[in-house]
Amino acid sequence: MTYLFPTYARWDVEPASAEGSYLTDVNGKKYLDFTSGIGVCNLGHKPKMVLEAVKKQLDQFWHVSNLFTMGQQEKAAEMLAKAAGLDAVFFANSGAEANEGAIKLARKATGKEKIITFEQSFHGRTFATMAATGQEKIKQGFGPMLEKFVYVPFNNLESLEGQMGEDVAAVMLEIVQGEGGVHAGNIEFLKGVERLCKKWGALFMIDEIQTGIGRTGKPFAFQHFDLQPDIVTSAKGLGSGLPIGAMIGRAGLKQYFGPGSHGSTFGGNPVSIAAAIETMENIFDQGFLEEVLIKSEFYMSQLLKQLGHFDGIKEVRGLGLMIGIEFSYPVQNLLAELRKEGLLALPAGENVLRLLPPLTVTIQEMEKSIEIMKKTIEKMSKMAV
Ligand SMILES: Cc1ncc(COP(=O)(O)O)c(C=O)c1O
Repeated sequence: MTYLFPTYARWDVEPASAEGSYLTDVNGKKYLDFTSGIGVCNLGHKPKMVLEAVKKQLDQFWHVSNLFTMGQQEKAAEMLAKAAGLDAVFFANSGAEANEGAIKLARKATGKEKIITFEQSFHGRTFATMAATGQEKIKQGFGPMLEKFVYVPFNNLESLEGQMGEDVAAVMLEIVQGEGGVHAGNIEFLKGVERLCKKWGALFMIDEIQTGIGRTGKPFAFQHFDLQPDIVTSAKGLGSGLPIGAMIGRAGLKQYFGPGSHGSTFGGNPVSIAAAIETMENIFDQGFLEEVLIKSEFYMSQLLKQLGHFDGIKEVRGLGLMIGIEFSYPVQNLLAELRKEGLLALPAGENVLRLLPPLTVTIQEMEKSIEIMKKTIEKMSKMAV
């Protein structure tokens, strides 16, 4: 009997403690955690410097409301805006809320209503972000969606061109579709989206909730492609596990989000802000990010070399330390077997195994994960014969 709504198909793993890349359950079993709380714990579990910053803030004050001027919130906003090459930040509590703010702002600033997103995208579970999500299964049973959302195939510029016009408020996309199966946008497509947005006066909005905060080896994934979005949204890794989301926009948009236009009681809470500042101090460091890139190249090449030959594996793909392995069969059982062998990994749709190791992962830990995957896939393919 559980008193929780069964919205999650929960695993049979109950954490007791976690540190760095490892998690220990209540039975004392230790797991290599390549889920990072679904792309949240980018500095590993319980990073010391974040812990210290949060403790310090807890000793000062916890919550006062956004009626007060808060120096640390200003500092976090400046760090985030500068990292994204933008000018203004609205703090929320989650990814969906950050996107919700972006959608509201896009409509208000442009005076237009149509918003174009992409098939297989994921932008959240609130009504606006569910409407923005290009996956039918997310919307089933929830009645009429928010109007004027249109979906076109990802990486298909012609389809987008066919939908562009004077009435488009914004085009919103993920640089790598995470929940939709770890599909990266290609440079011609991404540059094309930017160009079409400029041509039609639509806002170019990038959802970096899963791809941002160093996940792909840059502060934000769009920086691999020399893009200049009007709005970027962030959450997940921003607080290292404390709840925080952010919508980051260019200066010209400030006038449309004046007092009373939008808000959040908890958004930019001082404790989450303390975690975010320390997280950004560590991750937006050039040396740290260069190492992420080196590690991700190593991991990708080893995954291809050591797993690429398996019959059931169709493709190994990704960007930075956001990696998908597509199988020719559903990965649910494989993930359960991997957990038994001590590796925690995620699905991304039915057939894709998703790896989101902490950015602090070591070469040894990456090698260990491959060893476990290799052994488990071999064992399962023997069982299937
Ligand atoms: C790209 C993207 N956007 C939005 C969200 C929603 O974020 P949250 O669950 O914090 O509301 C997610 C969560 O998985 C995501 O991956």
